[in-house]
Amino acid sequence: MKEAVREACALLRAGEIVALPTETVYGLAADAFNPAAVAKVFAAKERPAFDPLIVHIASRGDLKHVAIVPEGIAATVSQLTAAFWPGPLTLILPKHPDLPDLVTSGLPTVAVRQSAHPVFRAINKELDRPLAAPSANRFGRISPTSATAVMKELGGRIPLIIDAGACGEGLESTIIAIEPRPDKQKPLFRLHRAGPITKEQLQPFGKVEKVRDKPGDPPHAPGQLPSHYAPRTPLVLLENPADFHPEPGKKYGLLSYRGDEDSPYLHLHDWEQVEALSPGSGKLAEAAIRLFFVMRLLDEAALDAIIAEPVSETGLGVAIMDRLRRASGSVAGASEPV
Ligand code: TXA
Ligand code: MG
Repeated sequence: MKEAVREACALLRAGEIVALPTETVYGLAADAFNPAAVAKVFAAKERPAFDPLIVHIASRGDLKHVAIVPEGIAATVSQLTAAFWPGPLTLILPKHPDLPDLVTSGLPTVAVRQSAHPVFRAINKELDRPLAAPSANRFGRISPTSATAVMKELGGRIPLIIDAGACGEGLESTIIAIEPRPDKQKPLFRLHRAGPITKEQLQPFGKVEKVRDKPGDPPHAPGQLPSHYAPRTPLVLLENPADFHPEPGKKYGLLSYRGDEDSPYLHLHDWEQVEALSPGSGKLAEAAIRLFFVMRLLDEAALDAIIAEPVSETGLGVAIMDRLRRASGSVAGASEPV
């Protein structure tokens, strides 16, 4: 661990980029205050410059260096950060003028969180600088939840990947913006991305409302394009088993929830390959951890299509279904990919 921290910090100080584990997914990190380093992140990911990065701070006290918290929501920010930081909750706040515009793609706001991963935290703290870090995949692809997956996405393009095993959450952080409301009403949380911190967990602190793209509007979070988290193999989210009409000679794989004999999906077809999201516990937390791993397995199986079983849309299931819909390129009302 010591050696990993030392090596990562030396590279980051020299303006290099390093893939680091977080509790959600692996991130590709750069010193947030070094625009040349941040530019390398965009280049390695082939990420368009209009898609802003999340800034990770080492301590809650560092928030003031990257964001300006408005009076009207200061109490809520304190409550949320006390409850969920370090952890998988990202807050969209007005940006500090010193933070390079490249990080926020010129937006007046910055997305910020504190990672709970011990390795990420140690590096963030030792470096003593905020780290801009998007997920360590090429643009539009499945987020990596292991160092092996990072290697497949970015191997040969970056000088170092720190391997700390599989990520504990498996899905990217929940992203919200906070709006004050008049009188003594609780603030409004605009949910930009569903994630490990669920609506149910946020509700005691504010009213949660999903941000919806209207057709024709620019995307509210540019990285939230409908084709995001996409495998190369077409993925079909099959809400109703009766809608499956296989073409002769084509190879289909099933992304099942439990993969057990009771599933109507299992008996629908003679599947080339079946992978289960939650084969052990049958719980959503296990499904979240395994989702991107299983999507990768099926993507590498030379199939013609991946058929995905829906999961129940409660708690963590909301974030899982969001990723499955985006992987299938079918997010209602969202704008077209660019
Ligand atoms: O769990 C995570 O959040 C991981 C780990 C590495 O921390 N990071 C991650 O970053 O998922 P990325 O870049 O793959 O996704 C960040 C999302 C993108 O959809 C981006 O458009 C959005 O956050 N975003 C960043 N800054 C924003 C801002 N100021 N306003 C609205 N959306 C923003
Ligand atoms: Mg990403």
